[in-house]
Amino acid sequence: MSNQDSNHILVAVAWPYASSEIHVGNIAGSYLPADTFARYHRLKGNRVLMVSGSDAHGTPITVRADTEGVADEVIYRRFHTGFIQLFQQLGLTYDLFTSTHTENHFKVSQAIFLALKENGYLYTASEQQWYSEEQERFLPDRYVEGTCAVCGNPNARSDQCERCGTLLELSQLLEPRSKVDGSTPVRKETEHFYLDLSKLESRVIEFLEARQSYWRPNVVKQSLGQMRANPLRGRAITRDLDWGIPVPVEGWEGKRLYVWFEAVIGYLSAAIEWAHLNSEPEAWQNWWTNPGARAYYFIGKDNIPFHAVMWPAQLIGVGETFLRLFAEVDGKELILPFDVPANEFLNLEDRKISGSQNWGVWGLDFLTRYDPDPLRFYLTMNSPETRDGNWDWAEFVARNNNELVATWGNLANRVLSFAYKHWDGRVPTPGELSSEDEALLSKIEAGFGVVGDLIEQVKLRSALQEALALATEVNKYLDVSAPWSLVKTDRAAAGTRIFCALKAIDSLKTIFAPFLPFSSQQLHYFFGYTHTLFGASHVGEVSDGLGAHATLQYDGRPAAGRWKPSGLAPGTELNQPAPLFKKLDESVIELERARLGTPGY
Ligand code: MF3
Ligand code: ZN
Repeated sequence: MSNQDSNHILVAVAWPYASSEIHVGNIAGSYLPADTFARYHRLKGNRVLMVSGSDAHGTPITVRADTEGVADEVIYRRFHTGFIQLFQQLGLTYDLFTSTHTENHFKVSQAIFLALKENGYLYTASEQQWYSEEQERFLPDRYVEGTCAVCGNPNARSDQCERCGTLLELSQLLEPRSKVDGSTPVRKETEHFYLDLSKLESRVIEFLEARQSYWRPNVVKQSLGQMRANPLRGRAITRDLDWGIPVPVEGWEGKRLYVWFEAVIGYLSAAIEWAHLNSEPEAWQNWWTNPGARAYYFIGKDNIPFHAVMWPAQLIGVGETFLRLFAEVDGKELILPFDVPANEFLNLEDRKISGSQNWGVWGLDFLTRYDPDPLRFYLTMNSPETRDGNWDWAEFVARNNNELVATWGNLANRVLSFAYKHWDGRVPTPGELSSEDEALLSKIEAGFGVVGDLIEQVKLRSALQEALALATEVNKYLDVSAPWSLVKTDRAAAGTRIFCALKAIDSLKTIFAPFLPFSSQQLHYFFGYTHTLFGASHVGEVSDGLGAHATLQYDGRPAAGRWKPSGLAPGTELNQPAPLFKKLDESVIELERARLGTPGY
C-alpha cells in the first residue's frame, strides 16, 4: 500500500439531513465547493476520496416524521433518494455518497464509542433533560426552543444557538417551549454517556493552534476563540430516542448515540464502505492512517463547532485504540482535519432561505428549467467564503448572459466555428508566432499556477474570477488581431492567430473544468479528444440487514497530469462545434421571483 505519500486528499462533505429539500444555499455552502476542489485535485492526478451521505438520524428526521404521521424511516428514504438524483444531475463526483443508516456505519460508530470508553474518555452521569409531561417522553434537542442566555436570540434551538453559535447547556435556554405542542417542558433526570472533553481540551487547542495561521478567520473564531472563552465541559453523547444507533453497552437498550456524535463518524465509515465496494478493503487507510494525507471538511458555518472541536476531540480520544480494535492496525492514529473551509450562508433576494415559507431555490426544481453549469458558475461567483452571499435572480441572469455566455461561451464557439469553417474542420497550422501570440500563450499557461494555487487554498471565487479574466484576455487578443478580416488578406497569418486562440481556449477548458465540468467536457469533445476529462458517476445499491439503500459512486481513476496547458497539434480534426451555454431572457427574472413564497412549489 502506498501509504505516507502526500497526494491523498480526503474531501469530506457535510451530510445533509434526510428531512428537507436541498436548496441553492446548501449547494453553495458545502456540496459544490467540495466538488470543485475534488475535480481540480483529480485533474492534478492526486488521489481524491470524496465521501458523504444522508444524515439519517436525529431530530430533524423525527420531527418531520411526527408532523407527517409517518415512520422515521419513510422520511429518511424519501429524501435520500432525492439527494442522489440531485447530486448526480449537478455532477458531484462523490466517490461514495451513502447514508448513516447502514450496518457498516453502525459498527464503525459503535467501535469509536467503545474505543473512547476503553481510553477513559467516557463517563456516565444523570442529568436533567427536557421532558414532556403531556407526551410522557423526553424531548430531543430540536423539539425544544427558547431564548439563548448568551445572546438573547428568542428562537434558539435547545442544543445550539444559530445566532451566536454557542452549544447550549440546559440552563442556558430560557423560557423553553416544545415545538410539538407548544407546551412548557419540565426538567427530568436521565442517565447518559458523556464525552469527557475537559480531558481532551488541551490537545484540541494544540491541534487548532497548529492550523490557525491558514484557517478562515471565522472558523478559528468559532473554534479556538470559543474554547478560550469557555472551557470545554463533558457533553452527553447518548439520547433517549428509538431512531438511531444503539448504545453498545448492556443495559442501555432504550438509548441511542447522539446524532452529531455518530454523523461525523460517517467520514470514516463511508471511506471504509467505499473500500469494500471497490474490493480493496484496506484502501481507506491511504486517507485515514496516512500522515501525509490531507483531510478537508466542506461544511456550512453552523457546523463549525462539531467539525473543528467535537470531531477532532473524538479522533484524538480514540488514539490508536480504534485502529487496533477495528482493523488490527497497531501504532497508528486516524488523521485529524487539515482544513475546515466552512462557508457562510447564502440568502435569497436578501431574505433568509426558509423551507416552511417556501423562500428558496430548490436544487431539483431549478434543474428542471436550467442547466447545471450556469448554477455552478453563479454560485461560485457568489461563493459565501468570507461573508454571507445573496442569490438575486436579476444577477443570475446578468452573470449568465454577460459573463458565462458573452465572455466564455461565445469566445469558444466563435473561434471553433471559424476554424471549422475556414480550415476544413481542422486546427490550422501556425507560422512563426509573434510576440503578442507568445504573450497570450504564456499568460494562459501561467493561469494554471495562479488558478490552481487559489483552488488549493479553497479560494474558489477568486479562482473562477481569474479564469474568467483569462477568457477576457483571449477576447482582447482577438479584438486586436482580428483574424475574421485578416483571413481575407493573409490567410496564413489568420491561421496563426486562430491556432493560438484555439490553444488558449483548449487550456481554458481545463482551467474551467473543475467549475464547469459539463461544458468543459463538451468543449473537449469539439476539440476532437476521444477520452473524457473525468469519469462518470453511477447510482448503485447496497443492501444489508437494515435494508437496501441507493448510493452515488464516481467511477473515475485519477488522470495524472491533465491540469496542464493544451498540447493541441496543428491539423487535429475538430468536431462540429455548437454553443456551450444558453442566453436567458430577462423575463425569467419576474417569473422566478413570482414563484418565491408561493406554497405548492
Ligand atoms: N446534517 C447536518 C446538517 O445538515 C450536517 C452534518 S455533517 C456531519 O447541518 F458530518 F456531521 F454529518
Ligand atoms: Zn445565542
